[in-house]
Amino acid sequence: MSRTPVSSLFEPLKLGGSLVLPNRIVMVGMTRTRAAADGTPTALMAEYYGQRADAGLIITESTSVSAVGRSFLTGPGMYTTEHALAWKKVVDAVHERGGRIVLQINHVGRVNNLQYLPHPIPPVAPSPIAVPGTSRQIVINIPRVTPYVEPRALETEEVPLIAAEFAHATRLAAFAGFDGVEIHAGYLIHQFLSTNANKRTDRYGGSPENRARMALEVLDAVTAVKGPDYVAIKLTPGWTNNEIEEEQVEDTYGHLLDEIAARGRLMFIHFYFPDLATSGLFRSLRQRVRGPVLVDGSLAPADYAAMVAAGEADLAGFGRAFIANPDLPSRLQGSLPLADVDYGTLYVGGSEGYTTYPRAAA
Ligand SMILES: Cc1cc2nc3c(=O)[nH]c(=O)nc-3n(C[C@H](O)[C@H](O)[C@H](O)COP(=O)(O)O)c2cc1C
Repeated sequence: MSRTPVSSLFEPLKLGGSLVLPNRIVMVGMTRTRAAADGTPTALMAEYYGQRADAGLIITESTSVSAVGRSFLTGPGMYTTEHALAWKKVVDAVHERGGRIVLQINHVGRVNNLQYLPHPIPPVAPSPIAVPGTSRQIVINIPRVTPYVEPRALETEEVPLIAAEFAHATRLAAFAGFDGVEIHAGYLIHQFLSTNANKRTDRYGGSPENRARMALEVLDAVTAVKGPDYVAIKLTPGWTNNEIEEEQVEDTYGHLLDEIAARGRLMFIHFYFPDLATSGLFRSLRQRVRGPVLVDGSLAPADYAAMVAAGEADLAGFGRAFIANPDLPSRLQGSLPLADVDYGTLYVGGSEGYTTYPRAAA
């Protein structure tokens, strides 16, 4: 049998108890700001995700577990009945086309951009430290251009309530028919893991164990809903997005991964590394994982395929390629050219540059 450089991406994989993926090509979470202003998903979003149902698995865009955890006015939420009913239409659109979809659940913490609304929603975070660089401007989909403000530090007793919000979103996701949830550990959870956004002196700050405690409380609350098979987590160890700094990265994430492994196998663990191809940290942390690994780091398809073939990864994450190529798996399989993303329409709302990318001509 002839093998192409991407053949390994087309070997089926069983995830969790019963979810069978026909390929390893995962559409990773991408914020596209096409929800209603109250966070309710739209019919346009159902069309967009339905168009991409050939993916082995779709991970939705970041979806907030609470009003205060939102970032953009037209980013989606999953905390009301209306949200869940509207998400069900998205899930149905994907399932009707034979696909699988998990909901990415998130709380943005201090990266909340909604504090200047008529009814302000001030941010919360581990410590009262604004995203550094007070002149940093936010321009996406909010009524005016604003800098980030200083967040309120969560009280010790409030932190478990955030975990309860993640669990509530998971219950709504199950109601909506999602195949699982992915906890995004890139915002509020990342702020707790960090050493520059987290200056706490209670049980959530200081040592690697304390900084990882909030992540584990969220994980425990979420896995209690439908078990670990239903749950994935996205980790971004050492990533400096939104001015996060992490010291003792290997100790902190090593502890987190050991604690996750002690609890059993999750649906998968998703690693984002901007330097995935050369990262020694990825290779060292990867040894501590039990269960499937999704790698995400802007590699070429053949390089992801080589990692899957070598057993370094089970799933390959594609972001921008899925924006412009709704039929990405068949394009990769047929070595067809890939279309480019129009960056001007990423976040503007409407169908242009969202549902208008065609499939390759047959
Ligand atoms: C437009 C856009 C929006 C994104 N939004 C999210 C998001 O909501 N959640 C998330 O975990 N990552 C988000 N990311 C990061 C991607 O999931 C992925 O990790 C990254 O884009 C690398 O993949 P790529 O090079 O294949 O695009 C976003 C990336 C892009 C390009």
